[in-house]
Amino acid sequence: MNTILIGAQWGDEGKGKIIDLLSRQSDYIVRYQGGANAGHTVKFGGKEYILHLIPSGILHRGKKCVIGNGVVIDPEALFKEIDTLKKTGIDVNGRLFISEQAHLIMPYHKLIDRLQEEGQNGKIGTTKRGIGPCYADKMARLGLRVSDLLDPEFFRDRLCYILDEKNKILTKIYGHKGLDFKEIHDTYSSYAKRLKPFVADTIQLLNNAADRKKRILFEGAQGTLLDVDHGTYPYVTSSNSTAGGAITGTGVAPTHIGQILGVVKAYTTRVGEGPFPTEFGPELMDKIRNKGEEFGATTGRPRRCGWFDAVVGRHSVMVNGLDTLAVMKLDVLDELPRIKIATGYKCGGKIHRTFPSNVRILERCEPVYEEHPGWQTDLSGIRRYRDLPVNARKYLARLSALLKTPISIISVGSQRNQTIFVSHRKAF
Ligand code: GDP
Ligand code: IMO
Ligand code: MG
Repeated sequence: MNTILIGAQWGDEGKGKIIDLLSRQSDYIVRYQGGANAGHTVKFGGKEYILHLIPSGILHRGKKCVIGNGVVIDPEALFKEIDTLKKTGIDVNGRLFISEQAHLIMPYHKLIDRLQEEGQNGKIGTTKRGIGPCYADKMARLGLRVSDLLDPEFFRDRLCYILDEKNKILTKIYGHKGLDFKEIHDTYSSYAKRLKPFVADTIQLLNNAADRKKRILFEGAQGTLLDVDHGTYPYVTSSNSTAGGAITGTGVAPTHIGQILGVVKAYTTRVGEGPFPTEFGPELMDKIRNKGEEFGATTGRPRRCGWFDAVVGRHSVMVNGLDTLAVMKLDVLDELPRIKIATGYKCGGKIHRTFPSNVRILERCEPVYEEHPGWQTDLSGIRRYRDLPVNARKYLARLSALLKTPISIISVGSQRNQTIFVSHRKAF
């Protein structure tokens, strides 16, 4: 069965851990959107791996990994990741396939991302990896794709034309000096040689695999509330991180999809700017941030933390069509005497049960909470659903009921074995 795995909140839900677990039973693991803004952590054997661009399935020998057409590729970040993997004994040769249609992140994308963030207007708190400017160029039909890089003459002419425009923007709008054509051209020409062996028609590759009943795992990056259409715009990333992105970002038809798995934290986090209705006050913020080690896997920034938000959860279930949930980091709530869940928002005398599409409304929303008793037990060593304390089971059952979606995986620690697989019928 082919599975799309989605972050159902604001990213960093623990997708990396679940991708790693599901990779065992997959043949292909595919990234379909975003770029090196992602940071997916996998821990096993006393080691920690953080994947940014290469699918987390690469850690499983023999599995094929694909970077689909919907991803934006920074070759510098890609090669750095390949080299880091190699140092830890993981060889990507022969099992990493990169779409010839994927767009390239260029030095001016990263520079403009930084300059926009440093400006006074409309700070988003991006990862400064050039993601927004690269997708903007894709849509404006001013992008350079992997296949362009492999055609030296075309690449030179097109870069010359595009850089001319970018340098006008850099000098006239940002008062920055322009970038040097030769330097970029020579650097990217050397990237072309290194990239070539990985480049493939990934659309054919994946559709052939689907026809042969191979199992494909679509590895979502970011989260539903960071989706450019369905998230807290403009405080979002620049791609479709929802389930639809897996279709357009790979060229695999929706009819090939068997199930959609949403990954949620047992609470909520977000990095960067933008409204966050259930955000904790300072005391709980420190406590949960430290216990959950909530610091960005890509930028190291402290993550903002808050209570589980069922309004966000229901929105994710709806726009992704989630069939089932993985609830992560339940252990982080172990010590709390009382745990809140937001079930709606109060705004201007009205109660919202659905997610407001306008952030200016969302900014004025006050969460409506229900409170549950905590379990105050260390869950990290528990491996069976029936061994969870009753209050933990009640909390999970409530999340499942509020989201009208069964829970199939519960995570109580970052290691592979700190995972409880639940049979739907038994648990909920
Ligand atoms: P992703 O971007 O969704 O892949 O998530 P990140 O890797 O950015 O952040 C998730 C963090 O939580 C990582 O440091 C994981 O090692 C860690 N983690 C995952 N599951 C659990 C869990 O159940 N309990 C605890 N305490 N940590 C976890
Ligand atoms: P994973 O895959 C959490 C956030 C940034 C910023 C906004 C836009 O690890 O869950 P961008 O650089 O994409 O233009 O930044 O999106 N963001 C993430 N937050 N996890 C991520 O990825 C993120 N990728 C981007 O912090 O608020
Ligand atoms: Mg992350």
